[in-house]
Amino acid sequence: MERLQKVIAASGIASRRKAEQMILEGLVKVNGTVVTELGTKVKDNDEIMVNGKPIAKETKEYYLLNKPRGVVTTTSDDKNRRTVVDLIQTSARIYPVGRLDYDTTGVILLTNDGDFANIIMHPKSNIDKVYVAKLNGIIKGEQINKLKDGVELDGQKVKPSRVKLKKADPEKNSSIVEITIHEGKNHQVKRMFESVGILVDKLKRIRVGIFELNDLGSGEYRKLTPKEVSIIYSLKK
Ligand code: URA
Repeated sequence: MERLQKVIAASGIASRRKAEQMILEGLVKVNGTVVTELGTKVKDNDEIMVNGKPIAKETKEYYLLNKPRGVVTTTSDDKNRRTVVDLIQTSARIYPVGRLDYDTTGVILLTNDGDFANIIMHPKSNIDKVYVAKLNGIIKGEQINKLKDGVELDGQKVKPSRVKLKKADPEKNSSIVEITIHEGKNHQVKRMFESVGILVDKLKRIRVGIFELNDLGSGEYRKLTPKEVSIIYSLKK
């Protein structure tokens, strides 16, 4: 379900503001009925007419990007920094599903399909988000155990579904840990490690559900296959 003015704007016939004006002026019909309420949500298969003409529906697009460092996970940035959307060649109004920090790299999905994005983001879908964290220091067994028991973030207990020490390098005083979480709280992985007393130097997301980087280089992307999209739809509760 999407907001009516957003769908009209996405069809390319008007800006969001102009679309709102047209709704208020009674020029928009949904399934044959005039709708003048701005918050109205519409489904994919609703027929929307503006000024008596059906609007063209934007086709759904789905991408998997290997996000580089130094790119923001938004559609536009007030500081004029490069965004994940700038890296993808399309005229569709895609947006990122969830977010990665400016300095975090790896798997990010982008789409213009709100239902698909909601399934990925919904806690009930229980989708794995797997990160590799390079830590500043050698993590101790007791710190890993504390993480496994769950730590408190924003007044809520969060537990990783898996934590695995991959490497400890006393010479470089760093460790590499793979951690799997299901939520998507702001700076979640960094804050989880911080709460057990160790800082994350580098963070890379290597998997979201069925989506892995495989041979995608930094800044490269690919379209999802129809099969992959239908697998995600099959998770809808
Ligand atoms: N957790 C973080 O701390 N940062 C990210 O970018 C993603 C998860």
